[in-house]
Amino acid sequence: MSELAPAPFLALAALGCALGACTGDEPAPARCAGLAPDACAAALVAEMSLADKVAQMHGTSIVPVGGLYLTADDARLGIPGFRMTDGPRGVRAGFATCFPVAMARGATWDPALEERVGEAIGAEAAGKGANVLLAPTMNLLRHPAWGRAQETYGEDPVHLGAMAAAFVTGAQRHVVANAKHFALNSIEDTRLDVDVTVDERTLREIYLPHFARVVRSAGVGSVMSAYNSVQGAYCSENEHLLRDILKGEWGFRGFVMSDWVFAVHGTASSALAGLDVEMPLGAYYGAPLVAAVDAGEVPLGVVDEAVTRILHTKLAFGLGGAPTVGPEVVESAEHAALAREVARAGMVLLKNEAGALPLDPASLGRVALVGALAAVANLGDEGSSAVHPSHAVSPLAGLSAALGASRVTAVPNDAPSAAELADVAAADAAVVVVGLTSADEGENLGTKGGDRASLALPPAHEALIAAVAAVSPRTIVVIEAGASVTMQSWLASVPAVLMAWYPGQEGGHALADLLLGASSPSGRLPVSFPVAEQDLPLFDHVSHAVTYGYDHGYRHLDRNGTAPLFPFGFGLSYTSFDFAELSLASSSVPADGTLEATVRVTNTGARAGDAVVELYVAQPGVAVVQPSRVLAAFARAPLAPGESALVPLAVRVADLAYWDEATGAFRVEPGSYGVEVGSSARELPLTATFTVP
Ligand code: BGC
Repeated sequence: MSELAPAPFLALAALGCALGACTGDEPAPARCAGLAPDACAAALVAEMSLADKVAQMHGTSIVPVGGLYLTADDARLGIPGFRMTDGPRGVRAGFATCFPVAMARGATWDPALEERVGEAIGAEAAGKGANVLLAPTMNLLRHPAWGRAQETYGEDPVHLGAMAAAFVTGAQRHVVANAKHFALNSIEDTRLDVDVTVDERTLREIYLPHFARVVRSAGVGSVMSAYNSVQGAYCSENEHLLRDILKGEWGFRGFVMSDWVFAVHGTASSALAGLDVEMPLGAYYGAPLVAAVDAGEVPLGVVDEAVTRILHTKLAFGLGGAPTVGPEVVESAEHAALAREVARAGMVLLKNEAGALPLDPASLGRVALVGALAAVANLGDEGSSAVHPSHAVSPLAGLSAALGASRVTAVPNDAPSAAELADVAAADAAVVVVGLTSADEGENLGTKGGDRASLALPPAHEALIAAVAAVSPRTIVVIEAGASVTMQSWLASVPAVLMAWYPGQEGGHALADLLLGASSPSGRLPVSFPVAEQDLPLFDHVSHAVTYGYDHGYRHLDRNGTAPLFPFGFGLSYTSFDFAELSLASSSVPADGTLEATVRVTNTGARAGDAVVELYVAQPGVAVVQPSRVLAAFARAPLAPGESALVPLAVRVADLAYWDEATGAFRVEPGSYGVEVGSSARELPLTATFTVP
């Protein structure tokens, strides 16, 4: 496991006094001159009363103070409190840059870009005085109807782990990141009490590997326990998840905090199971925890362990030291440019026939932009992931800026009149913006948000597409939503479809960049788009007890031989790519080794574009039944017209292990493994095999 970033702490410590020689006013790091975080935390714990310790273990206000959720400072010992802010697409406190939602960023398949987003959001959080960022949301998308689908990166644990780890690495240059919600939080409407039953193999192979990755290789400083329960134990008091796996097997050194208000159900039960911090108040961890220790229900050692973790994190991340950035980073021009770059990189071109796209600004006369969403900057969820930028660009504003307002005819409603449709018919192309909003999906706010009732577009939007397609042969449908949408009823009636997700504050400009061909679409689906909802496992957002099976997403479709509408990993471009020369460094790789492969990718078209190379592995499945294939590695390759590159891909064989129920451990199956490389889970022209002896 990588150590938490110690650099800021050491810099401060070098300037500090030493414990015992301090006046008491110095920040904790300065009091530990020359000590490593571990030793300093231990020394501070030794100086604390039980009340001091418990005060470190809970929040102090149910509502944010200056946009931040707080835990207490310890003035006597110079220990700063946590100052926390959401969230996954930007900072929720005051005005901040609103990036595209995580699902859109997942569609970039570009961890290096995501690291820059994590760094930008982390910097804005620090610029607002926060020291903990309540992101990334990294629950596996078991089903696209999950209301908070937009907050996570997709349906595959390898892809999700790579994106979340990149975000954490970037964010933790400025603040402590928070991997949430641990674990199996993938239903919104019943999230407060749904009990998820899952067998150990499914838990280990499907729902946890991405969390393990952010702990082990990104050194995430904090983890948030989910509201729901797993196997009958609430996640905030789930000893198997918190102690056995997270803190035990994975060696997590940071702290575990609860989700907000309704997540904690008992004092001793939570403390004993390994919950370190209750948020946003101390309903169970204030006076009740002191009493539980006094009554012998919670050993003092349990409190000491929690406080040691909290202090270690504060020290290792240099909390209380000089801020890494000032407030000027918030909503900087650089961050707006990054938001536009990411929005562009994450939009997925799903269909493009008869040269419908790109629209050529040189030859094009007039474009009709249709639908109520055309005139709105549709940013997504209004719950804890909401971000409020001081400006945001709608599709209409973006297209008007690029083309000139006189060449854009706006029909910003979902039921155009006959006269408006005549105007649309007379334009050279019609762009119809449809999809969902925070009213349809998102965190469940009672009156809006929550899980989706259907994967179809709202009926009014299907009717709008039909009305426009009937008058304009060049109808381009732009969809805004947090995850998959079914389209079977109308897809054949239009030549082009672009999935824009919730594209953030610069979404309108990014959309114009792609529609007008200033850049080539390069997003790839991080989630399968089914033909019909019944092609996926049942999404039950009503019952309070559900069972998660082994298969979901592309694994489920593959096992059942069901063709998706658009497969996982799919996305078109304005150029074309050739994949060739799959070569493995060795045909035999030991169980503790790494498979190294290269693939030649050539841009065979006339425009620049980014290819995404996806490598899947088919496992032998001798001892246990395996999925047909699993994503094991991927890389994004920007290529000029005619350019060719040898793209390296690496797979740790240990990551292909299955969970052996008999021994309670991961086990690599010896035998012959298939390697399949291509541009989606259903387009894998290159194959090879290797053996694990
Ligand atoms: C959400 C968390 C969020 C917290 C604080 C909860 O309702 O589930 O994701 O970080 O509120 O806003």
